[in-house]
Amino acid sequence: MLTAIKTRRSIYNFKREEVDQSIMQDIFTYGSYAPTHYMKEPWNIKLYEKEGKTSFVDAIIASYQRIGMLKSGDDPKTRNMIKSMRQFLLQIPHHALIYFRKEEDPVRYEEEYASICAFIQNAQLAAWEYGVGMLWTITPYMHDETFLEDIGLDSRKEKIAAVMQMGYPEKIPHDKGRTPITDKLEFISR
Ligand SMILES: Cc1cc2nc3c(=O)[nH]c(=O)nc-3n(C[C@H](O)[C@H](O)[C@H](O)COP(=O)(O)O)c2cc1C
Repeated sequence: MLTAIKTRRSIYNFKREEVDQSIMQDIFTYGSYAPTHYMKEPWNIKLYEKEGKTSFVDAIIASYQRIGMLKSGDDPKTRNMIKSMRQFLLQIPHHALIYFRKEEDPVRYEEEYASICAFIQNAQLAAWEYGVGMLWTITPYMHDETFLEDIGLDSRKEKIAAVMQMGYPEKIPHDKGRTPITDKLEFISR
C-alpha cells in the first residue's frame, strides 16, 4: 500500500480491455472503508460502461453545448468537433460518477464531501493494486442542473462529486514528484 501511494499516477490513456465488474466491486469496496462521520457513507456510484456509455456521453455533449463549450450547429467543423469529443469519451472503458445527497448544513456538507474524497482516494489506491488506472475529473457538466436531471439525478437534492475515468493503463505518466513535506510541515512542540 505504501508503494501504491507513491507509484499511483493519474491515467490519461487506457487500453480497450474492460475491467470485470467483480474487480470494480472490490475496488469500490476498498473505497468504502474511508472514514465517514456519523457513519453516513455518503458515496453513490453510477458506473457507465459498454452500451451504458452512450446515453451518458450524449448527456455530456448536450451539456457542453448548453454551457457553450461546444457549438450546436450542423456545419462540418462543428459536427467533427462533436464526433471527436464523442469518440474520445466513448473509448474510455468506464466512467464512475460519484455523487452524494446534499446537506443543508455547510459543516455537514463539508464532512460528506471530505469523506467522499477519502473514498475516492482509497478506491484509486486499491485500483492501482489491481493494475487499474483512474483519472479524477471535475468538469463543468457536473454543475449543470439539466445534466443531472438527464442522468436521473435530482439536482436539488444530489451533488456530483467527481467523475472517475477508469481502465487498464495504456501509458503511465512519469512521476512529477512532490514538494518536500518539510517545506509545508511545521512542528509546534512548545
Ligand atoms: C479533485 C481533483 C480533480 C481533478 N481534476 C482533473 C481534471 O479535471 N483533469 C485532469 O486532467 N486531471 C485532474 N486531476 C488530476 C490531477 O491533475 C493529478 O492528480 C495531478 O496532476 C498529479 O498527478 P498524479 O495524480 O499522477 O500524481 C484532478 C485531481 C483532483 C484531486
